[in-house]
Amino acid sequence: MNSTVTKATIVVDRSAVVAPVNRRIFGSFVEHLGRCVYDGIHEPTHATANEDGFRLDVVELVKELGSTTIRYPGGNFVSGFRWEDSVGPRENRPVRRDLAWHSIETNQVGLDEFSRWLKLTGSELMLAVNLGTRGIEAVVDLLDYANHPGGTTLSDARIKNGTEEPHNVRMWCLGNEMDGPWQTGYMSADDYGKLAARTAQAMKAADKDLELVVCGSSGSAMPTFGDWERTVLEHSYEHVDYISCHAYYQERDGDLGSYLASSLDMKYFIDTVAATADHVGNKLRSSKKIKLSFDEWNIWYLDEHRASDEVNDGWRVAPRQLEDVYSVADAVVLGNLLITLLQNHDRVASASLAQLVNVIAPIMTEPGGAAWRQTTFFPFSVMSRLAGGEVLRPRIDAGTYRTAVHGDAPLVDSVVTVDDGAAAVFLVNRGRTEPIEVSIDVRSLAATAITEAVTLHDDDVYAKNTLDDQERVGLKTLEEAVLAGGMLTVTLPPVSWSAVALAR
Ligand code: AHR
Repeated sequence: MNSTVTKATIVVDRSAVVAPVNRRIFGSFVEHLGRCVYDGIHEPTHATANEDGFRLDVVELVKELGSTTIRYPGGNFVSGFRWEDSVGPRENRPVRRDLAWHSIETNQVGLDEFSRWLKLTGSELMLAVNLGTRGIEAVVDLLDYANHPGGTTLSDARIKNGTEEPHNVRMWCLGNEMDGPWQTGYMSADDYGKLAARTAQAMKAADKDLELVVCGSSGSAMPTFGDWERTVLEHSYEHVDYISCHAYYQERDGDLGSYLASSLDMKYFIDTVAATADHVGNKLRSSKKIKLSFDEWNIWYLDEHRASDEVNDGWRVAPRQLEDVYSVADAVVLGNLLITLLQNHDRVASASLAQLVNVIAPIMTEPGGAAWRQTTFFPFSVMSRLAGGEVLRPRIDAGTYRTAVHGDAPLVDSVVTVDDGAAAVFLVNRGRTEPIEVSIDVRSLAATAITEAVTLHDDDVYAKNTLDDQERVGLKTLEEAVLAGGMLTVTLPPVSWSAVALAR
């Protein structure tokens, strides 16, 4: 660690409430892609597998991660998926090509099995429907199968298949990334907006309390970003509840400084989509506010995957695809992105870390072998465990540094949550060389003691956990955290994410 210490101050105001913490902000994503489902959560021959073939060692890690709402079954996969293939006796289920990821789908895991897995992990289902190759009829049939109590052909089929109680899925995604030319059945904003509106209308005719997510742009770099949201919402505004946002970040050209400030782009993304949604709402004289579902966010070394031919290497079941191995720097960026989601929780009501196991994931597995935590596991699990009550946006006074991509970026970022008997302060030091001593005025929290102080930092910012070295990177105690006279003082190592839990 460098011996020069720079300083920053933070003031926490108990009344600066952003929003109550909604557990859906800690959601994740399981797609039929690569080894996320097969040889990931599901491996019938594994020593820990239960009667459904789900690995219980993975279940334990998912519980420790603290992911809540889980988006399923895709992603790009859903746009060619026939849901009927994946229910009923397993031996009768068709085997099909998945055009999105060039692999073979055996349909051995479907809605009913996955719902049982969700019960093991204590998670809520967020179900995506196919608006690429299919449409309204298949969607309302799926809704009948999934949610109707019984007495219809489809709900009775669910009961016959072993699921007596309806799945009662509340959140539904109306397709996936329908603006992307890579998406099976991609569309223009006009076409998609009309289809989404009609599909939503039909779904709400069955159940007016469903929560529906319409597709926003697949990324802020899309040429139609902004216009897409406007057009889609002009068609669907009164029928839907959320608009989706998707963002992936990676270090490019060795520019660690810009990479560490990635959350500035996420903030720009959120502000733009919220402003666009409000513009449409105001134009329509609507009293309703559209919420944001940030249902894909993560670090993804997409450039490298695009340059490789891994997606086109033949039609196989569960090929190794998108298996990024994450560094300390990646975990710090991920922790900062989660801080940004919480800072904007008044608008971003739900979010899904994409994805959960093996595919750009915090949890990795080896067939017949171990399951372990990637670096990115740690900030997510600690924040999910400690964040509770209400989110507060603190006032941060820190120096800045120049980035090539985002202009001047503050060296420190932070968010605070406060509950009845506890509070938590989450912090990031984006600086690459210097520790930063941060004085945090927490008098308004009436904090009495520090109960936990941890940091994710390593002298090697590119250190990773791998199959051969599964515990190379982990949480460390944040040394020298002091609470005295209502002031919390911490020293954040360079390139670090930290959390301090307080009793009150
Ligand atoms: O999460 C991986 C892929 O990223 C998803 O399938 C797709 O929606 C996005 O492009």
